[in-house]
Amino acid sequence: MKKHFSIYSIILILFMTSFSCQSSGDQEKKESSIDARVDSLLALMTLEEKVGQTVMYTSTWELTGPAPANGNNAYRAQQIRNGRVGGMLNVIGAKGTRSAQQLAVENSRLGIPLIFGYDVIHGYKTMFPIPLGQAASWNAEVARIGSEISAIEAASSGLHWTFAPMVDICRDGRFGRIMESAGEDPFLTSVMAKAWVNGYQGDDLSDQYSIAACAKHFAGYGFVEAGRDYNTVDISPNTLYNTVLPPFKAASDAGVATFMNAFNDLNGVPATGNAHIQRDILKGEWGFEGFVVSDWGSIGELLNHGFAEDSAHAAQLAMRAGSDMDMESEVYEYHLQKAIEEGKINEKLLDDAVRRILKVKFQLGLFDDPYKYCNEVLEKKNLLTVENLEASRDAARKSTVLLKNEKNLLPLSKDVNSIAVIGELAGSKDVPLGNWRAQANKNSAVSLYEGIKNALGDRTSVEFAAGYQLIEGNRTIFDTLNFAEDDGSGFKEAIRIAKRSEVVIMAIGEDCFQSGEGRSQADITLKGRQLELLEKIAQVNSNIIVVLMNGRPLAIPEVHQIAPAILESWHAGSEAGNAIADVIFGEYNPSGKLPVSFPYVTGQEPLHYDRKSTGRMVPENDQYDMVFWSHYEDAPNEALYPFGFGLSYTSFEFNNLEVIASENPGKITVSVGLKNTGDLEGTETIQVYIRDIAASITQPIKKLVDFKQIRLLSGQEDRISFTLDSSDFGFYNPQYQYIVEDGKFEIMVGNHSNNLISQTVEVKF
Ligand code: BGC
Repeated sequence: MKKHFSIYSIILILFMTSFSCQSSGDQEKKESSIDARVDSLLALMTLEEKVGQTVMYTSTWELTGPAPANGNNAYRAQQIRNGRVGGMLNVIGAKGTRSAQQLAVENSRLGIPLIFGYDVIHGYKTMFPIPLGQAASWNAEVARIGSEISAIEAASSGLHWTFAPMVDICRDGRFGRIMESAGEDPFLTSVMAKAWVNGYQGDDLSDQYSIAACAKHFAGYGFVEAGRDYNTVDISPNTLYNTVLPPFKAASDAGVATFMNAFNDLNGVPATGNAHIQRDILKGEWGFEGFVVSDWGSIGELLNHGFAEDSAHAAQLAMRAGSDMDMESEVYEYHLQKAIEEGKINEKLLDDAVRRILKVKFQLGLFDDPYKYCNEVLEKKNLLTVENLEASRDAARKSTVLLKNEKNLLPLSKDVNSIAVIGELAGSKDVPLGNWRAQANKNSAVSLYEGIKNALGDRTSVEFAAGYQLIEGNRTIFDTLNFAEDDGSGFKEAIRIAKRSEVVIMAIGEDCFQSGEGRSQADITLKGRQLELLEKIAQVNSNIIVVLMNGRPLAIPEVHQIAPAILESWHAGSEAGNAIADVIFGEYNPSGKLPVSFPYVTGQEPLHYDRKSTGRMVPENDQYDMVFWSHYEDAPNEALYPFGFGLSYTSFEFNNLEVIASENPGKITVSVGLKNTGDLEGTETIQVYIRDIAASITQPIKKLVDFKQIRLLSGQEDRISFTLDSSDFGFYNPQYQYIVEDGKFEIMVGNHSNNLISQTVEVKF
């Protein structure tokens, strides 16, 4: 016979343990007290209640995936009352989350609180630059502060958990979700991953404004074939272990509370059903103690992959593989209990999943006060504040990358007489908000046009013309975009104002809904007639500053040819226009560096700087001009703008690289002189790359291992040092063992991946 406890006696047990640990103030004791509380609660739970904790529902009013089969609200509410649901997504707002929480806490037998998750990817109400843009700052503080503020806004609106950061390595510009990543490099992505996790989670998950983070999508999602979203991923163990997994390991080491698995098939085993990565590596080797949530419907999709025979089979495969919570597949809900009763799944696996889920709920403090995040006063107070907007503006400035600046056209003097601001994107108050815009108010960003006017006041004539037409019809996170049939009717006015202005500022690139989930493109050149208009404008005014707005690297060699100055602003968030104007008028000297390589043509994708040498590298002096080298006949091998590239309004010079193998075996000290040789104060990012000249598994021709940002006054010099150790020189073998091999290494230092000075050293570990 099942034992029934009154809700009050249970709450008493849980509170008593909480009380005794709070006085200790010691993290370890707190953890073990949480473990004890989890165990005592688990011991009280029925099989149905345990399965319930693994079930996650969406609120049906805001879908972020295909509609669930059983989205009936009355049925779902009853399931929550019955304690058959562990978490919800897309329930938002202090009021909404409170009423959903009441269903669970005040009606279910054990009163276990729900956990509320939401995609707070680059802001909640105040939008920050898209993650790819934040990564372009090469500044961990930008990422940390942005996610800390997002956490404050989300926590004040009832949310406990964000489905961020996405730490997938993305090196194919065709893949729409590259905008949500930190780009192509495992080291840079790892730095950003740690900062994002720290920002969301703070020092203690139980703090009022901390929310649980989620490292996603585990694993390999950025390597979908041909950049097509949800497609197959077939990569070697070498790529999986050395390129894909390191940022996830960094997130796990930073204490991320949860992981999300991925939609993709990974080397023949769908990620959601992949015990090797979820159980052996994540929960085994890495000792990850949080829980893994599936991606939307990904347990159900095990059928589509041809991996599970039916939903019952999918439930067994996913649970065995270590997927703890089922987001919207309704597979655990309907099949897990039976699988356990029939002995197809060991109940211990379910207990482990539930223990992990409960632990995060305890860590968040939800058992102490399930309504602590549902505070309408805080919700009013903490959203879209002046301080939050100022932080967003600062992040946007720091994320901007100066790609070209011929004849020092930039920074522009505020004494300029007349400016023509051109482009549909320049007038948009919506595009800069980006793709994953959570609860941002539509059309709430500062447009580029507004930003320019704000900076100049009345003293300069600033005229605007949209010029080209890019998109027509609905623009939302779900809708397929309609590219406009541009009849060129806007060209005339754009050319007219360009002709009579001293300077043209023209925004081109992409709508924010051209990138993001389900937004892959086979062609990453400019859409519509943007380029044609740029060419026409250049014929009447050569002082053109191009401002790019985009969520992926673009193939834009023609733009590079035509425009003397180019600024990459990504989708820069709520304060976009003001921030870009800060850079244009020199209030901020640009310091951003590309986190992805920009190709000349789409066909170069996937393009990344850390490629292998091949047996047939193009020789520097090919005296016979032969074809037998690894190259294209119709495009360069190199990037138009390489990884790590970004200019400043001042100039820097590197000198005297010193590489010293210290007495401590395997430690290398690298130091380099840096001088600001220009007229302005500015920030440079010193990047350190290594190459293992010969290894038992071939290594990339260069690999980023460290970087630092230094601010120098005009004429100022400094010496910057780095210490590298064995963790920088090794790699994982196909057995997932980290090995370090003695031998010769080339150490390279510079300000982008194609501008490096180097020395070769022999290292013994
Ligand atoms: C995405 C996830 C997201 C989830 C919930 C899925 O389609 O792949 O990244 O967190 O939806 O909205």
